[in-house]
Amino acid sequence: MKRIKIAPSLLACDFSRLSEEIKAVESAGADLLHIDVMDGRFVPNITIGQPVVSCIRKTTKLPLDVHLMIVEPMDHIKSFIDTGADIITVHLEACSHLHKAIAMIKDAGVNAGVSLNPATPVVMLKDIIEELYLVLIMTVNPGFGGQKFIHSTLKKIKELDTIRHELGTSALIEVDGGITAQNSDAVVKAGADIIVAGTAVFGAKSYKDVINRMKSVLT
Ligand code: DX5
Ligand code: ZN
Repeated sequence: MKRIKIAPSLLACDFSRLSEEIKAVESAGADLLHIDVMDGRFVPNITIGQPVVSCIRKTTKLPLDVHLMIVEPMDHIKSFIDTGADIITVHLEACSHLHKAIAMIKDAGVNAGVSLNPATPVVMLKDIIEELYLVLIMTVNPGFGGQKFIHSTLKKIKELDTIRHELGTSALIEVDGGITAQNSDAVVKAGADIIVAGTAVFGAKSYKDVINRMKSVLT
């Protein structure tokens, strides 16, 4: 049985109590903290930037999983590395030189991820997957929390799982968007290793119950 990791997405937390919310998910069993960086260009929304990520770094020892939903990410990779991020994920759709962007992240000793929008086929990663720590499959269109899970993305997760086994690579599969305690078993059975969950965790009475339920999926 594989061990599923849960990455609560801070986008859904109460930002007026950010450090308390971080402590709460930490004691509820979170494995990573997912941080959604949006620029109002790659996606319509604007969220948080480097100064906030640096403050989050000071409040927790949990690995920081930084999801860059920004155009021209290479202009900002260095400054996000300086915040102390443990994983930096860029969108394939935002990179003209994906290999170079991945190298920038890895050369700094940080884990590199690539994210795919729902309409981007997983085969696009075939020639780079061996360089990656993780692939982030968007299970909603990026930009907002609280959206409905797009069912057709399950097929993509399965396809990616097949590709990584065929190539014998260790890249993890992370899924992001509309994941709940009800559909988490489907994504895990399809091949997901890390579940990002915003609304499902921070909207629940007990963060621990939701995290435990998501982790208890049998594979
Ligand atoms: C969406 C973000 C997600 C989002 C997930 O663009 O990348 O990480 O916060 O939120 P939920 O779990 O509410 O769909
Ligand atoms: Zn995200």
